[in-house]
Amino acid sequence: MLQCQDVTKTYRTPNGEVKALGDVSLRIDKGQFVAVCGPSGSGKTTLLMTMAAMLRPSAGMVRFEEEDIYGMAGSERAVFRAKNIGFVFQMFHLVPYLNVLENVRLAGGAVGGRDGGRARELLQRLGLQHRMDHRPAQLSTGERQRAAMARALLNRPKLILADEPTGNLDPDSAASVLGHLRDFHRAGGTVVIATHGPAAQELATRTIHLRNGTIERDG
Ligand SMILES: Nc1ncnc2c1ncn2[C@@H]1O[C@H](COP(=O)(O)OP(=O)(O)OP(=O)(O)O)[C@@H](O)[C@H]1O
Ligand SMILES: [Mg+2]
Repeated sequence: MLQCQDVTKTYRTPNGEVKALGDVSLRIDKGQFVAVCGPSGSGKTTLLMTMAAMLRPSAGMVRFEEEDIYGMAGSERAVFRAKNIGFVFQMFHLVPYLNVLENVRLAGGAVGGRDGGRARELLQRLGLQHRMDHRPAQLSTGERQRAAMARALLNRPKLILADEPTGNLDPDSAASVLGHLRDFHRAGGTVVIATHGPAAQELATRTIHLRNGTIERDG
C-alpha cells in the first residue's frame, strides 16, 4: 500500500542542518496495524508526516499504491491526501473559530464531497453528539481528540496515520481513541501509529523501532 524508499529528511535551521531521517526504507501492507516507537527526537513525527504526503523528503521516494506522491503537483497531492489518508495529530489541530461539526465537515471540502450526514453520524459514534455546536476550546482534551478522530475518518480513508494520539489523554479517553483505531483496522483499514504506550503496541501487528532517524528493529 505504502512504500518508503531511501527516505532522508534534513531540516535546515539557523544553527545548521538536522538530519531527522536517514535512508529509511519500508513497506506498509494493506490491513497492517503498525506501531512506530523510539525515543524522543528519533524521527517518528517526521516519518509519519512524510508518509502522509505532508512533508517532502530531502531525498528518496514515497509511493502510495504505486503513485509517487511527491511527484504530483501540490494541489493534486492535497486532494489525493484528503481522499486516501486520515491524520490524527498529537495536538489535535482543530480550527479554533469553528465548532466541532464544522471542523469535521471541513475535511470533506478538499474532495468536494457533501458529507450527507456522515459528520454527524461519526460524532455520534464518538460520543460527541452533545458537543457538535461547541468550539474546540470548550471541550476537554479527550473530546478534542475524538473530534480529531472523526475528522480523520470522514472521507473513509484507506490509511490512518496517528501521531501519539493518546499522549495527552487520560486512560479512559486513550482507550476510546485506540478503540476507534481498532474498529477502523477491523473494518479493513490500515493504521500507522507513533506511540510510546504499551496499549497501542499490543494492538499492533508490527512494531518498527526508530533510533536517530533510522530503523533499528522491525517486526
Ligand atoms: N521543523 C524542524 N526544524 C528543525 N529540526 C526539526 C524540526 N522538526 C523536527 N526536528 C528535529 O528532527 C529530529 C526528529 O524529530 P521528530 O519530531 O521527527 O522526532 P519524534 O521521534 O517525533 O520525537 P517526539 O517523541 O519528541 O515527538 C529531532 O532531532 C528534532 O529536533
Ligand atoms: Mg513526535
